[in-house]
Amino acid sequence: MSDPLKLGIAGLGTVGGSVARLLHVHANDLAVRGGRAMPLVAVCDKDRDRDRGVDLSALEWFPDPVTLATSDRIDVYIETIGGEGGIAYDSVRAALEAGKHVVTANKALLAKHAVEFARIAERTGASLNFEAAVAGGIPVVKTLREALAGNSINRVYGILNGTCNYILTRMEQERIDFGDCLAAAQKLGYAEADPTFDIEGNDTAHKLALLTSLAFGTETASEEIYVEGITSVTLADIEAADELGYRIKLLGVAMRTDTGIEQRVHPTMVPKSTAIARIDGVLNAVAIDGDFVGEVVLVGRGAGGNATASAIVSDIVDIARDVKVPMLGRPADTLEPYRRAAMRAHEGGYYVRCMVHDRPGAFAAIAARMAEHKISLESIVQRRRAPRADAPGGTVADEPQPVIMITYETSEAEMRAALDAVEADGHVAAPPRMIRIERL
Ligand code: HSE
Repeated sequence: MSDPLKLGIAGLGTVGGSVARLLHVHANDLAVRGGRAMPLVAVCDKDRDRDRGVDLSALEWFPDPVTLATSDRIDVYIETIGGEGGIAYDSVRAALEAGKHVVTANKALLAKHAVEFARIAERTGASLNFEAAVAGGIPVVKTLREALAGNSINRVYGILNGTCNYILTRMEQERIDFGDCLAAAQKLGYAEADPTFDIEGNDTAHKLALLTSLAFGTETASEEIYVEGITSVTLADIEAADELGYRIKLLGVAMRTDTGIEQRVHPTMVPKSTAIARIDGVLNAVAIDGDFVGEVVLVGRGAGGNATASAIVSDIVDIARDVKVPMLGRPADTLEPYRRAAMRAHEGGYYVRCMVHDRPGAFAAIAARMAEHKISLESIVQRRRAPRADAPGGTVADEPQPVIMITYETSEAEMRAALDAVEADGHVAAPPRMIRIERL
C-alpha cells in the first residue's frame, strides 16, 4: 500500500463533523478502496468542545485555516467553512498555491472563483474536487464531467435546494405556512447559515452556475442568472396548482438557445405526472439531456451532513487513487466566455393569478389584454371566495375574487407587457402573480 493520504478539515460544523465521523467509521474500507489509508490528522474550528460523535482530541488543532491549508502535516485540505470570500477563499487559494489538493462543498465560493482556482490548480498540479458543492450527496459533478463526457448537453435542470423543496412539499401536503416550514428545515440542519440564501434562490443559483459550466464548457457566470426565490409563493398558488394538476418546485434550469445559454432559477409549475414533481422533502433531483444518451435523472439527498460527507469522501478517494480530471471538465483556458440568453426571450407557458375587483367587464378586459399580446389561454377560471359569515348575504361588495389563467407558450416579454397592462387597467387589487410552467 502507498503512503497514507493525510487529511485536514477546516470547519467542523454539520458537514465537517459528518466527514470526520464517516472517515472514522469506514476507515478500513476506505483504505482498501483507495489503495492507501486516509487518516484525518488535523482540524481547525473555534469550538473544540462540541460533541461531533467522534473523538477528535488526539488530532492536531490548528489556530486558523490558512495555516492548516499550507501545513506540511497534510496532503489534502478539506474546506467546510462556507462563504464566498474571507477565510474560505484565502485558505483554498493558499492550499492550491502550495500544491495541496483541495476538497470543498462551498458552492458560493466556487460560483465566484472556480475559474481562478482551476487555473491555479492546473499550474501547481493540485486537484480541486467539489462533488458536494452541487446537490449534496448526488454524484452529479462526476456524472457530467466524466460519465457524460461523450455528449453535447442541451439542457440541465433540477431541484437543487433541499430547504426550498422541503418547505414547498410541507406547504402542499400539510397546508401550513411558509415560516413554520422554514423553521423546521433549519432545525433539521438543511438550511444555510443565512437561510435567505436558500429561500431567495441564491444557493440554487450558485449550484446552477457550476452545472452550467460543466455542461456547456463555459466560464462560470453566477451573476448572469435570472433568480426568483420562493418567498412569494403562497398557499393560494399551491392550492390552485394542485387543482390544475401541477406542483410548484424551485427549479434551476440551464439550456442552450439560439441566442445563448439561458440560466434561470424560479418557482416553476411542473405537471404532477412528471418525475420531478414527485421529488419530495429534502430530496434533490438533477436531469441532464445529452445528445447521445438522452435524458439522465439523478435523485438523492441534497442537504444534510451525512449526504454531503458522502460526496466529500468520494472526492478524497479519487485523490487517493490519483484520479486526475480537469476541475471544470476541460482545461481552464479552453472554457468559453458565457453568452447570456436574455430572460425576455424565454418562451414557455405561464400560470397567472389575479385578484380581480368583482365588477362587470373586469374578466373580459383581462382576456382582451392577453389577446392583444397574442397570448393564447389554455384555461381561465374565476373562483368565488368562500362566503364570509360576517358580511350581509355572506359576501362583501367589490371584494376581489381570484381569476386563474394557464397560457399556452408565449414569450416572457409578451407576458410581462400583458400583465403590466392588466395592472394599469385597474381591475386588479394587487399586481398579478405569475409562475412559469416548464416543458418537461
Ligand atoms: N442549504 C442547502 C440546501 C444545503 O438546502 O439544499 C446544501 O447546499
